[in-house]
Amino acid sequence: IEHIGIAVQELEEAKKIYCDILGLELTGEKTLPERGVKVAFLETGNTKIELLEGIGVESSVSKFVERKGPGMHHICFEVDDIERVMKELEAAGVRLIDETPRRGAEGKLVAFLHPKSLSGVLIELTEK
Ligand code: CO
Repeated sequence: IEHIGIAVQELEEAKKIYCDILGLELTGEKTLPERGVKVAFLETGNTKIELLEGIGVESSVSKFVERKGPGMHHICFEVDDIERVMKELEAAGVRLIDETPRRGAEGKLVAFLHPKSLSGVLIELTEK
């Protein structure tokens, strides 16, 4: 698991809880207007947590929080060859959200898989 994504209402508020109270280390922060999110990366020791705050009502994270409230948003698995894995999963009947990989918040190639195919969990793939 490369990271776990958590959708939050307010990034600053969530950082206080996860960093100041839980003691996780903030290792990076980014605003990605094209994806409609502000993100903060926290180091836990064996994986990372990605806190996500939506920007604007059209953001998929804003919609998620609106619908379900803040909470676990996705799990990200690291793979060696993202295009190969996507082809294999698609051939096995898994619905892809991204037809082709794109650059994620940390500059690596990422792609999302549809939760309908994965027991209701949004899965992100990222290439090493
Ligand atoms: Co992610």
